[in-house]
Amino acid sequence: MKKIIKSVIAFLLAVLLLTNSTKAQTLPSIGNETAAQKEKRLQWWSDARFGMFIHWGLYALPARHEWVKNKERLTNEDYQKYFDQFNPDHFEPKKWAKEAKAAGMKYVVMTTKHHEGFCLFDSKFTDYKATKTQAKRDLVKEYVDAFRAEGIKIGFYYSLIDWHHPNFTVDKNHPQRLSKENDTAYERLNKGKDIAKYRKYLYNQVTELMSNYGKVDILWLDFSYPGKNGKSKDDWGSIELLKQVRKLQPGIIVNNRLNLEAYADGADFVTPEQVSPKKLEAYKGKTWETCQTFSGSWGYYRDENSWKTHRQLLDLLITSTANGGNLILNVGPTAKGEFDYRANNALDSISIWMQANNKSIYQCTFAPDTYETPVNQKLTYNPTTKRLYLHLYDYPSTGTLVLPNYVGKIKYAQLLNDYSEVKMADNGKDLVISLPAKKPNYEIPVVELILK
Ligand code: GLC
Repeated sequence: MKKIIKSVIAFLLAVLLLTNSTKAQTLPSIGNETAAQKEKRLQWWSDARFGMFIHWGLYALPARHEWVKNKERLTNEDYQKYFDQFNPDHFEPKKWAKEAKAAGMKYVVMTTKHHEGFCLFDSKFTDYKATKTQAKRDLVKEYVDAFRAEGIKIGFYYSLIDWHHPNFTVDKNHPQRLSKENDTAYERLNKGKDIAKYRKYLYNQVTELMSNYGKVDILWLDFSYPGKNGKSKDDWGSIELLKQVRKLQPGIIVNNRLNLEAYADGADFVTPEQVSPKKLEAYKGKTWETCQTFSGSWGYYRDENSWKTHRQLLDLLITSTANGGNLILNVGPTAKGEFDYRANNALDSISIWMQANNKSIYQCTFAPDTYETPVNQKLTYNPTTKRLYLHLYDYPSTGTLVLPNYVGKIKYAQLLNDYSEVKMADNGKDLVISLPAKKPNYEIPVVELILK
């Protein structure tokens, strides 16, 4: 009897597994790219592992969060003073590009428009743009030229949300939202607003961005919030929008916030936002990029003082690589047009580490299962060169470290920062490596293990 029950359960489980896996495969597609073609298109991005996010807009003036218009329920009139004052006379994107390059960032994504609706680029479809401020010029154009000159791939963030546009209907995230979620009151509030007109505006602007700046490598659209008094794919016209983007920029890589989860190719990568290193481990096996701030806010926030430490930032980068994902680290430049000293200090310290250790990041991913990660340390792996990178989070005070089950697998070991030999010994069962008694002068030193 027990046997019969067991085989019935096994049968049911098999049916369940089968239906689930066919479900995943049968999601409809918008385009007709194969998995191999997608992998090839994303190759440079996966190899890069590290990018810079830039959130810059009028919110840099109040300097108290890029959602300030929402948080303080400001009207367009309240907010107008920031447009009138906007004058970033220290804006020199070449400096930004040099900082990014030195820190080892291979791509950049800047806000061309954030939720406030202000456009840093010259758009035919609005006057709410940089060219109409004291800046008097297309700041996106200068950004593109500067970063491209440093060999950094270019990305545009574009906010689907727009708290300035007259036809963007008031919803639960809008500065003029209602205190109580009352449908009929929302209807009254939105009388005369036509979301179809906004949809056209957004389509036109994304078309401009995809047409007027040469090759764009990444598009970051932000964001959908389906459900009651929210907005989703039909509000944005997500399918048409994505088709247009792919038509104009065939190689482009697009994030996952268009609310196209029901399509196999509705996004190229997932975007865990401000997720802890521990929680990032759950993304292993997916195509992903975690976006992170230095201090909590994306836009410049003068009085925010809880900045991440050098070690925390390194941990995010190493943990992302060690789980097969990317890190895009955000800078919120000031209204003057500069990275503030805290951002520069953070970037400088990353650049020192990266210049010595970047081989453990670029083109790397998680290590094969056969290599156990020693307690408290982290491993990355380059599948092309067949090298393992042991990140010493916890530097052994004895100078020796035991690598369980590594015997017979390692040809040579060296410190990554100076290629000095790390001696190995076999204690009969495990491999024991001897490290310098004095910790190398890097927050997290790396040992390169060359496999046989
Ligand atoms: C969020 C926020 C936003 C930020 C973004 C970055 O969706 O609305 O301010 O731009 O995430 O991931």
